[in-house]
Amino acid sequence: MPPIRGYVFDAYGTLFDVHSVIDAGRAITSDPAALSVLWRQKQLEYTWLRALMGRYEDFWAVTEAALRHSVRRLGLRADDGQLARLMEAYLSLPCFAEVPAALERLAGRPRAILSNGSPRMLAAAVTASGLERHLQHVLSVDAVKTYKPSPAVYALAPRALGIPAAELLFVSSNAWDIAGAKSFGYQVAWCNRTGAPAEELGAAPDLVITRLDELPA
Ligand code: 2OP
Repeated sequence: MPPIRGYVFDAYGTLFDVHSVIDAGRAITSDPAALSVLWRQKQLEYTWLRALMGRYEDFWAVTEAALRHSVRRLGLRADDGQLARLMEAYLSLPCFAEVPAALERLAGRPRAILSNGSPRMLAAAVTASGLERHLQHVLSVDAVKTYKPSPAVYALAPRALGIPAAELLFVSSNAWDIAGAKSFGYQVAWCNRTGAPAEELGAAPDLVITRLDELPA
């Protein structure tokens, strides 16, 4: 395996804790965790379906559509203000506790975000979490109008960093994202924060960690 010359991070679930929107969910349901889990699953499902159909809408629009569906599916009622507050939560997601120091520890080599998030969503989350000083690139799939795990998405980081994928370490908590990046040619580290079983997608991670500060510096 060639030496690592740069790091590429997934955003939601890897750097940012998406389930922190649970607090905003309390306003409309007595089971905000169920809403958060269904919302996240539908959000990803919609990205895969829109990518396959060739009907791209940005991650903000897809996230909003997934929220409206999830509220209906759970038989909840939410007015436009409550929906807006749930969406706003996505713009100020906290990063996981170990992330700032973990990124600092990798200083000296370029660090990038490569995410389904829209440019506006990512800019807001990076600013709200104070991570901008640790990141040299923030790359959104919006540049290629499709979603992960399309190879067109994974091609964005080698181009932006000027480093071949084989010399980049891609880090994600989403095992299906790891399979996509490995298939494209990155070295990959799966940050298995929840102790989930491995996916059966024919592309095993090169490294499995549970927190980003376990990455080899
Ligand atoms: C991301 O691209 C997959 O949501 C994840 O940030």
